[in-house]
Amino acid sequence: MELIDGKKIADTIKAEIAAEVEKMVGEGKKRPHLAAVLVGHDGGSETYVAHKVKACEQCGFKSTLIRFEDDVTEQQLLDTIDSLNADADIDGFIVQLPLPKHISEQKIIEAIDYRKDVDGFHPINVGRMSIGLPCFLSATPAGIIELLRRYNVPTKGANCVVLGRSNIVGKPVASLMMQKAIPGDATVTVCHSHTNNIKEICRNADIIIAALGQPGFVTDDMVKEGATVIDVGTTRVPSTLTKSGWKLRGDVDFDNVAPKCAFITPVPGGVGPMTIVSLMRNTLLAAQHTVY
Ligand code: GUN
Repeated sequence: MELIDGKKIADTIKAEIAAEVEKMVGEGKKRPHLAAVLVGHDGGSETYVAHKVKACEQCGFKSTLIRFEDDVTEQQLLDTIDSLNADADIDGFIVQLPLPKHISEQKIIEAIDYRKDVDGFHPINVGRMSIGLPCFLSATPAGIIELLRRYNVPTKGANCVVLGRSNIVGKPVASLMMQKAIPGDATVTVCHSHTNNIKEICRNADIIIAALGQPGFVTDDMVKEGATVIDVGTTRVPSTLTKSGWKLRGDVDFDNVAPKCAFITPVPGGVGPMTIVSLMRNTLLAAQHTVY
C-alpha cells in the first residue's frame, strides 16, 4: 500500500507556482491577484478561505478578502461581482459556497465572468470541461487528477466508481475520468443515494473516488485487493483529542480499507491540500491569459 501524500505534492506545486510568479514579476508583469468573497461565519468556509489566502502568500500572489454578514442581499453580492468582473487588477475570484438560503447560488455563479471563474463553476467552464476544451477546471476534480498523474496510478481502461453526484466534485470528476486523456480513459460508474447494490459495484472498482460526505461509508468489504481509493470526504466530527473540539473524517474507513489498497489518500492531507493548489494554478493561468 502506498499512501498518496497530497500535502507533499501540494507543497511542491506551490513552490513551482511561486517560482513562475517571481519569473513573471522579474519580466515586469504584475503579480497574480485572487479575490475571495465570504458570506457569514460558517466554520468550514472560514477555514477554507483562510487556507486559500495563506496559499496565495506562499505562491507570491496578491489576495483580497471581501466579507459580508449573513443578511447581505443577493443584489449587493451581484453588485460586488460586477465590480470584480470589471477590475483589471483582479485576475480571478471566488464566492465561497454555501451561501445563505435567500441567495441563489446559481445566479451568483452565472454572474461571474467565466474568464475570471477560477473555481470552474460557471456553466461555460463546466461545458468546456465536459467536451475537453481548455477551461478552468473545478479545483477538487483537478486536484484528484493531478494526484493520480503524479503517483502514476493506471487509469486507462480501469473501472472507476465515483460515489456522489455533486456539481462540484462527483459530476466533474466522473467527466474527467472518462475523458480521452491520461489520467482518464476509465470506464466510469457514478453511484448516489438511489443506487442499488453499491457494495457490489464498488467491489468491481479499480479506482473508488468517494465524495458523499458520509464519514466511514466505504468499508473494507466494498474494496477489492489492489484498488486505489481517493477520499474526498471532509466531515467535521466531535473529538476530545483536538483543541478545536472537532476533527476531519473522510468517507472511507481508512484503518480497515488501507491494507487492501495499492494507493489511498488520507484525510486530512490527501485531496484537501490539492484542491487549494488547483485554485492557485487556475489563478496563475488567469493572470497569464493562457486559457482565455
Ligand atoms: N465550498 C466548498 N468547496 C468549495 C470550492 O471549491 N469553492 C467555493 N467557492 N466554495 C466551496
